[in-house]
Amino acid sequence: MSDLYPTQICLTEEEQDAFRRLADELAGHDPVTETEDFVMTAQLLSSRLPERIRRAGLHFRRTGDPSGGLLIRNLPVDPLPPTPDHADYGLGIRLPAARVFSLASALVGEQFGFQPELAGQIIQDILPVAGFEDTQQSISSRALLELHCETVFTEYRADVIGLLCLRPDPERIARTVLAPTAVLLPLLDARTLAVLSEPRFSTTVDGSFLRGSGLTDPILIGPVRVLDGDPERPRIRCDFAETRGLDDEAQAALDTLYAVASEAVIDTRLEAGDLLLIDNHDAFHGRSSFRHHGNGEDRWLLRTFITRDLSRSRVHRPGDGRIVDTDYAAGSNVMTLSR
Ligand SMILES: [Fe+2]
Repeated sequence: MSDLYPTQICLTEEEQDAFRRLADELAGHDPVTETEDFVMTAQLLSSRLPERIRRAGLHFRRTGDPSGGLLIRNLPVDPLPPTPDHADYGLGIRLPAARVFSLASALVGEQFGFQPELAGQIIQDILPVAGFEDTQQSISSRALLELHCETVFTEYRADVIGLLCLRPDPERIARTVLAPTAVLLPLLDARTLAVLSEPRFSTTVDGSFLRGSGLTDPILIGPVRVLDGDPERPRIRCDFAETRGLDDEAQAALDTLYAVASEAVIDTRLEAGDLLLIDNHDAFHGRSSFRHHGNGEDRWLLRTFITRDLSRSRVHRPGDGRIVDTDYAAGSNVMTLSR
């Protein structure tokens, strides 16, 4: 386990009040039916957040953090109803906490969504759902969620993932983990680094993105590089549940990376009001297992996807909206529709 920990900002009562006041001003804007108006208003209001918070957010946006994350604690997330039993209700996006979430997200970039995920809503509920306990989806619980970068199959993946904890699991055993490049890279030998930097890998489109498409076989995207860009600080593109080497040496390099990443994790335990911002190019993230009860007291997070440059995905956002909507089986780097 690593000694590193995300930079932490713990809100004072005054700072909490500032968030509450600005979130109240945002209450007249609907994040689902008036998304553009909602986000623009959140961006305008965020300029009135306390300077200490704005500075921390802008600094993370500009340079990241050696841990791959920034932890803003003590955000106001009440009042809170019982945890729903399914994420598809989209309950969280209309809570006061979602307005607080968007004020903080505005410091880091532009919120956006993907059409297959709740029709592109910019904030999703992450909570345990009956029947999905052992899957590799965010709504699992009993299964450990493998280390991954988010939606690595698409060029239009988020630069930053925001996770706002509304309610921790009652047993407090759930851990959100990070494995940042700053820790991993010095532990890898030159040959492994070189192989990971070559386009010798494939990754599959998340099954949840194929719902309703009629496709049942995996869609392989590739060839892709797991490490890309500045060798001193490469970007990572890998989901250990979905990414594979295209040859034996590439797979061996990936196995080495996995072993190193598993040893180097930074454990965080999110409490109510904790917002963890994760740089999706700088760190893997994952989650330990925890218990699902189905009694309204289950763990409940809100998640959002943030990009520093929304214009990159323009061609795949109908009407220049905030929803990426594309045919994942027809992209230019689809290798094959089945293994
Ligand atoms: Fe994730």
